[in-house]
Amino acid sequence: LNKVSLFANLNEQQLNAIAGLCYKKSFKAGTVLFQEKDPGSVFYIVFSGSVKIYTASGGGEEKILSLIRSGDSFGELSLIDGKPRSASAQTLEDSVLIALNAGSFLELLRSNFDICLIIMRELCDRLRDTNQQVFELTFLDARTRVIKSLIKLANKNGIRQGSAIHIRMKLNYDEISQMAGVQKPDLMRVIRDFQDRQILTFQDQDMKLDLAKLRG
Ligand code: CMP
Repeated sequence: LNKVSLFANLNEQQLNAIAGLCYKKSFKAGTVLFQEKDPGSVFYIVFSGSVKIYTASGGGEEKILSLIRSGDSFGELSLIDGKPRSASAQTLEDSVLIALNAGSFLELLRSNFDICLIIMRELCDRLRDTNQQVFELTFLDARTRVIKSLIKLANKNGIRQGSAIHIRMKLNYDEISQMAGVQKPDLMRVIRDFQDRQILTFQDQDMKLDLAKLRG
């Protein structure tokens, strides 16, 4: 638990108390943990693996709102306001999650103001990120949104090597276009163009994004 940002400032006794309230569960890649509009009853922390948070149109088109990686949490909104899930959640790879029932989660917030503050900061981050997405979807064209999404993925999940960033891709092309909010052909056009100009190179599951070439 001490690797979880939410619990970073707690002492051993507090961590032990929380460990008694949590349970760990493994999920295969692609498991839908809950759907938008479901009633919410569990708060999750990603112990290992990753989860995508997304919303879907009636026609089945998806927009990825956020990627949650190990150490981060999700599922707090419906427990705090008692309303249905605001988005759906699905594992992107085999993942181990720490789960906390609604009652335990709310009790934790009541008893520890530091944890409340961290959750509030998390909500602030989500609102800022959503504002950024509204800006990008309103004012930027599809190509620029694809480029921004690739850079965002690289910065969040990649390992820097000189001017390039190596990314082990957990997302397929459908999911990258759902993240950028573009149709798949728009994504593929940018990828082909970047491959031709050696800005993007692929090795097995790894993708290398050369930022110097992108800027140049
Ligand atoms: P909840 O509404 O319970 O279930 C869906 C969860 O997805 C939500 O809690 C948040 O934890 C998370 N979530 C919803 N919208 C966003 C967003 N725009 N950015 C990041 N996370 C989100």
